[in-house]
Amino acid sequence: MEMTGAGEQEREMGKVIVVTSGKGGVGKTTSSAALGAALAKNGAKVVVVDFDVGLRNLDLVMGAERRVVYDLVNVIQGDAKLTQALIRDKRVESLYLLPASQTRDKDNLTAEGVEKVITALKKNFDWVICDSPAGIERGATLAMRHADIAIIVTNPEVSSVRDSDRIIGLLDSKTLKAEKGERIEKHLLLTRYDPLRAERGDMLKVDDVLEILSIPLLGIIPESMDVLRASNVGSPVTLADGDSAPSRAYFDAVRRLNGEDIPVTVPGEKRGFFSKIFGRKAA
Ligand SMILES: Nc1ncnc2c1ncn2[C@@H]1O[C@H](COP(=O)(O)OP(=O)(O)OP(=O)(O)O)[C@@H](O)[C@H]1O
Ligand SMILES: [Mg+2]
Repeated sequence: MEMTGAGEQEREMGKVIVVTSGKGGVGKTTSSAALGAALAKNGAKVVVVDFDVGLRNLDLVMGAERRVVYDLVNVIQGDAKLTQALIRDKRVESLYLLPASQTRDKDNLTAEGVEKVITALKKNFDWVICDSPAGIERGATLAMRHADIAIIVTNPEVSSVRDSDRIIGLLDSKTLKAEKGERIEKHLLLTRYDPLRAERGDMLKVDDVLEILSIPLLGIIPESMDVLRASNVGSPVTLADGDSAPSRAYFDAVRRLNGEDIPVTVPGEKRGFFSKIFGRKAA
């Protein structure tokens, strides 16, 4: 990150991303880890914060489960300093994890506590990625509260899309940005996209999802064994297998997060999505 001022070692405030969804099990944790690792690999200083103990927890997906000593709740309750709870990745040195409490009650996450932690993280990291629990409960609203950017993870199926619409409503009303009358930047990440099932009509088509949700598309991540294999060895797919289709899709998503305007490839289709819309030849 650029330093501001000549002599001053003052850094610009980092950006807070919430990775959220209405429906559970759609790929939030997988995507938080993959995007965080991809951003860090590109040189940014990144922390991924676990707000949930989900199906497959963030520390597991990032291969750090045996290194967890303190967690977010410990920091909030003053039992540990932030620096004691942060776990630095062994592969990418600018990548950190702040783990979730495995045992304690979720009520221990207080709004004031979360605010303190996020504020401290923003001062020290370029990106603060909050892996949210699914749904509209308190944990999810706490995770999205400080976000500048929301990534709404959606699978191409009716129930997931419908629940995403609900989350979009929350993002526009319950976040700090919304309270200040500002708009939170929203991106759609379509995950677990299976071209064969889309072809058969078992899944919604990309255009249908976009039409219903009408938020900009950050990327389409194909359903892939590469994701499971990476997760089983405790690695974000963007670190385990950089050349795999899901990894490339996550790296492209990161470029779009950084403001690049590059065409979205629909898995199974040769031509990029923009080229399809504008009738140009794929690059
Ligand atoms: N692109 C993919 N291809 C294949 N499997 C995937 C893909 N993305 C995620 N998965 C698998 O789907 C399951 C759910 O993923 P994940 O835990 O990331 O979802 P989640 O939204 O965080 O779930 P929860 O709501 O419980 O927190 C995991 O087993 C994960 O490995
Ligand atoms: Mg999860």
